[in-house]
Amino acid sequence: MSKTWRPATQLVHGGTLRSQYSETSEAIYLTQGFVYDSAEAAEARFKGETEGYIYARYGSPTNDMFEKRMCAMEGAEEARATASGMAAVAAAILCQVKAGDHIVAARALFGSCRWVVETLAPKYGIECTLVDGRYLENWEKAIRPNTKVFFLESPTNPTLEVVDIAGVAKLANQVGAKAVVDNVFATPIFQKPLELGAHIVVYSATKHIDGQGRSLGGVILSDTEWVNEHLQDYYRHTGPAMSPFTAWTLLKGLETLPLRVKQQTENAGKIADFLAEQKQVAKVIYPGRKDHPQADIVAKQMKGGSTLVAIELKGGKEAAFALQNALEIVKISNNLGDAKSLITHPATTTHKNLTDEARAELGISPGTVRLSAGIEDTDDLIEDFAQALSKIKA
Ligand SMILES: Cc1ncc(COP(=O)(O)O)c(C=O)c1O
Repeated sequence: MSKTWRPATQLVHGGTLRSQYSETSEAIYLTQGFVYDSAEAAEARFKGETEGYIYARYGSPTNDMFEKRMCAMEGAEEARATASGMAAVAAAILCQVKAGDHIVAARALFGSCRWVVETLAPKYGIECTLVDGRYLENWEKAIRPNTKVFFLESPTNPTLEVVDIAGVAKLANQVGAKAVVDNVFATPIFQKPLELGAHIVVYSATKHIDGQGRSLGGVILSDTEWVNEHLQDYYRHTGPAMSPFTAWTLLKGLETLPLRVKQQTENAGKIADFLAEQKQVAKVIYPGRKDHPQADIVAKQMKGGSTLVAIELKGGKEAAFALQNALEIVKISNNLGDAKSLITHPATTTHKNLTDEARAELGISPGTVRLSAGIEDTDDLIEDFAQALSKIKA
């Protein structure tokens, strides 16, 4: 495999492991276990004296291809594929902390991610401080002698706030902590947290990487030293491994990722510009627009806008529901990153478990909707929004 290949080439060819049949499309190895030529060979494999697979919970050939392709894309030394994005987030954080340690996390997190650090971790004696991650001084102020992990997503779900990844990673380095970045919203096409100094990157591969609504999956990427020291045993013995069938669908997803993300981003940008001019709309937040509150950080760390747009309607929940119900092409769904355009109302779905206060802190109002732009024709999507908005009182 050539390390000099550009991303689009890596995503088609990276990590390919052809069998003796020289298949074009990657093979699916749906097996739980592997057989050994002799008892001595089994012993040697278990001792780590010979290369090879042991059990699919530890690793398997189709998963290996997916992991290697992700490493090539991300510039990571090691990856571990997981059954869902949440399995990746939970493993990446919990594998490296113990009772008495402290986590600093941005408060603007996907609901389940926030639950892991805010509710689950403290049950095991791991303290957590949530900060407004937009300002570096908040991260710095939250540091304690026992801080081991910084956790953030950028842009955030759903209001597309941005965190200065290089700044947070630098602070983490200064105190010997590790910065874990959930890169789902940016995608590996637009943002490379490891290059920005972060130590660990996680994805819900369910989103753009599959991108066609088929599989749940996740992946954790980092360097060999960290994986060996922290993740390897956790991953092998708690069992979050991905199914090889899922790894195969995700390999297919990776092949078309740049094409889909390009079209989705073009659609998102044009829809954002259109909506910003409409009388029913109070505010549009889109990382690709000059009026994004943190446009300077976006320019510093992202190569492109985003496939997502946050829209605040003047008419509150009533208008948000009316818009969703009137759209014909855009479907109502809390998923994102799909080839199909999807819209959701965070206050009553993805972020319904937060208090009104916590939602307000994150800028989620009753009139906020989140659009995940699909790959449909741009004009059809804009016409769909135009006809749906015409049914809403300004
Ligand atoms: C930012 C972010 N992280 C993690 C996840 C969890 O991913 P999964 O649903 O694959 O477990 C999601 C899912 O919506 C997400 O939006």
